[in-house]
Amino acid sequence: MTTRYQQVADHISDQIHAGLLKAGEKTPSVRQCANEMGLSISTVIRGYELLQDQMLIEPRPQSGFYVRNQYQPSQPPEISQPLVRPSEVNLDNLAVTLLQLSQEKNIIQLGTAPPNTDVASVKHLSRIMSKIIREDTHEPNGVADYDPPPGNTNLRRQIARRMINAGVNVHPDEIIITTGCQEAMTLCIRAVTKPGDTVLVESPSYFGTLKAIESLGLKALEIPTDAKNGISLAALELAIREWKVTACILTPNFSNPLGYCMSDKNKQKLRHILKKKDIAIIEDDIYSELTYSTQRPKAIKAYDEDGEASNVLLCSSLSKSLSPGLRIGWAIPGRWLKQVTHLKVSSSMAGATLPALTAARYLEMGIFDRHLRQMRRFYKEQRDYFLHLVSLHLPKDIRHTHPEGGYVIWLELNKKIDSMLLYEQALKENICIAPGPLFSVSGQYKNFVRINYGKATRKQLEKAMIVLGRLIASY
Ligand SMILES: Cc1ncc(COP(=O)(O)O)c(C=O)c1O
Repeated sequence: MTTRYQQVADHISDQIHAGLLKAGEKTPSVRQCANEMGLSISTVIRGYELLQDQMLIEPRPQSGFYVRNQYQPSQPPEISQPLVRPSEVNLDNLAVTLLQLSQEKNIIQLGTAPPNTDVASVKHLSRIMSKIIREDTHEPNGVADYDPPPGNTNLRRQIARRMINAGVNVHPDEIIITTGCQEAMTLCIRAVTKPGDTVLVESPSYFGTLKAIESLGLKALEIPTDAKNGISLAALELAIREWKVTACILTPNFSNPLGYCMSDKNKQKLRHILKKKDIAIIEDDIYSELTYSTQRPKAIKAYDEDGEASNVLLCSSLSKSLSPGLRIGWAIPGRWLKQVTHLKVSSSMAGATLPALTAARYLEMGIFDRHLRQMRRFYKEQRDYFLHLVSLHLPKDIRHTHPEGGYVIWLELNKKIDSMLLYEQALKENICIAPGPLFSVSGQYKNFVRINYGKATRKQLEKAMIVLGRLIASY
């Protein structure tokens, strides 16, 4: 539910975005707005405070509020042009280094993609966890026991309930609890492929997925992907005509790093094209709950069929929407349920019991939706603030995505700029960014960087963008 002061902020921000209130113009006075909307003065003042936080308006002494100069969103990067041919995957150590660097307290962390966990609703988890430990009776199925696949029943029931919003009607017994989305993805990829097979990936692609492909001895075929519409279906059709492909791995909702959200029509079309050739779709659904709108987008799995006709394996977790430390993920592998269950046993035997009990209890309490509303608004405001900083501190020839969900952004810098060098220079100044080549198996994206704008404070973001602007200008 939107609060009243949020309604005030939305009302004014809609007028600004529609061009009805232009930069430098005075907004309606607090009293006028209160009268028009039938709200109290204090509610309108809170709404105006929110608009100031969003960098949309600014106060002028003894005069009122004025619309700020807005950033001009730049063009998104052009559709990617990877080499459309299967490649061996040989990633260097950079992904591991980035993850290790993410533990360094004195570094401004923009390089990896953890969510912002500095909010009350997440701190609530530790209280739930302590309560579960206190209440534990040391009976079978308690905290100290194994939680073998498919995993905690209550948790699977809660996940099945949430999947309805994705358009997916699934029985809890069709869900397997995993150690994060990464394990779900690895198990699902293993279930449908054998070493040497070729899999399609969106390009640029999340480096954890590329790591999984590398470790399983598969070849990756990178498909051109557009920052707005997602993976090119035309290029994908050409690729599967030319090459023998076993699976297609993608994040259709708020992909990492492009942040695109595929339309329902394209999701249906993609499923149809791949179904005809019996190519499995491994769908990474991890960012869907972090839409900036009110309703999470549908999953490709929503268009899947039952039984042997199924060809979509959905993977997700609570890592981005709640807490990565829980390591609670899940797979809905359709007709590969049995294989994924066996692989889960061979990979880790069982999941950790305490996080599963905690996540189940948290979801049962019915507070997750409120938390999501708070996070969606927070990340949207952070995006606007970050883009404001981009327009202030980075050169004008930059192109960037405009995510409508999640919290990562993909920046295309001038071709002269080597993002690996920029990464090293920024690190010397205690700023960590993710250089573009991490997101490709064929060394693409040398002048791109991915930035997580959701975790750092505004002060840290500002400092980082001033430094990056200076480093880029020195080229
Ligand atoms: C697209 C995507 N998939 C999977 C993962 C890994 O998720 P988890 O932490 O749940 O294993 C990440 C983490 O950054 C991600 O961005």
